[in-house]
Amino acid sequence: MNTTTTLRTIEWLGDLDGCVSMIDQTLLPQELKMLECRDPEAIWEAIKVLRVRGAPAIGIAAAMGVVLGVRGFDGTDRAAFTAKLDEVCDFLASARPTAVNLFWALDRMKRTALGAGDDVGAVKLVLLAEAKLIRDEDAAMCRAIGQVGQSLIPAGAGVLTHCNAGGLATAEYGTALAPMYAAHEAGRSFRVYADETRPLLQGSRLTAWELSRAGIDVVVNCDNMAGLLMKEGKIDLVITGSDRIAANGDAANKIGTYSVAVLAKAHDIPFYVAAPSSTFDFACPDGSAIPIEERSPAEIRHGFGRKTAPDDVSCYCPAFDVTPAELIRGIITERGLIQPVGRAEISTLLAEKSG
Ligand code: MRU
Repeated sequence: MNTTTTLRTIEWLGDLDGCVSMIDQTLLPQELKMLECRDPEAIWEAIKVLRVRGAPAIGIAAAMGVVLGVRGFDGTDRAAFTAKLDEVCDFLASARPTAVNLFWALDRMKRTALGAGDDVGAVKLVLLAEAKLIRDEDAAMCRAIGQVGQSLIPAGAGVLTHCNAGGLATAEYGTALAPMYAAHEAGRSFRVYADETRPLLQGSRLTAWELSRAGIDVVVNCDNMAGLLMKEGKIDLVITGSDRIAANGDAANKIGTYSVAVLAKAHDIPFYVAAPSSTFDFACPDGSAIPIEERSPAEIRHGFGRKTAPDDVSCYCPAFDVTPAELIRGIITERGLIQPVGRAEISTLLAEKSG
């Protein structure tokens, strides 16, 4: 049996006067450094530039950002407090568009405030408790995803993953990496191939860092090597995370995921998505309704302090793509494995959320 030393990616320190402490993921793998945020502007900036990233971690950051934004509200006027809360939520919602967990967490904070009575001081404390609960629930959901998915990874398997859907992308432990941690804890040896994940290299900077830190055999490959790895018989299954899953099972994830799913289909390799229930969006009937973030071309032209394309060349930089449900063998959630992937199977398993 092996143990996993978990990283606490983001947490609230202290009481209402405290702050949000998060790993600054832009510095990894060179440096493991905590960043303290004390106002919603700092949280917004951290989400925008990917100091905190990954759908569940973004949701937690937003919930804690709400507390930072309303705790200084002066006075007892409940209606004015609600207006302030709405303003803070609108501001945080503008940080990034694709990960639904951001909007899910902000809605949950608003609903919590609505049900928390008229005493503004008490509502602030209830909101702080709710933000901490969102973090703790995410950690528990990730553990459960690990248990649901671990049997998919037999001893000796080769597992391909794309981007980072590990502890760093969540409260701790991860979504796509959770079954890997659980299989490792159960004593099985296997190899993970981590797509490097251009342009921001979440695979090589973050996934390889956290898996090797946990003692899991990990090999980094450039994104354009995935097809060859499959052809060479090195990959038995693929597991990725997701930023938003539509009602029919179409799943948005880091740009390049769709290509991996097509390659997996061509090689008859099962492609799994791992995600908590907070990543499903029943307001999106299918993947075409999922908003896709487009990021600065500078991330392609000038990555990591070096010119990588001519200054004046056009670059197209969508941050996510959508993998159609028919390419997904199963979705690993904290409530169980959804297989086959379809509208009916999803709503049956997640009935509480959709109802
Ligand atoms: O742009 P990022 O780094 O926030 O993108 C993250 C991903 O695409 C992850 O795979 C996804 O959020 C799942 S995280 C558990």
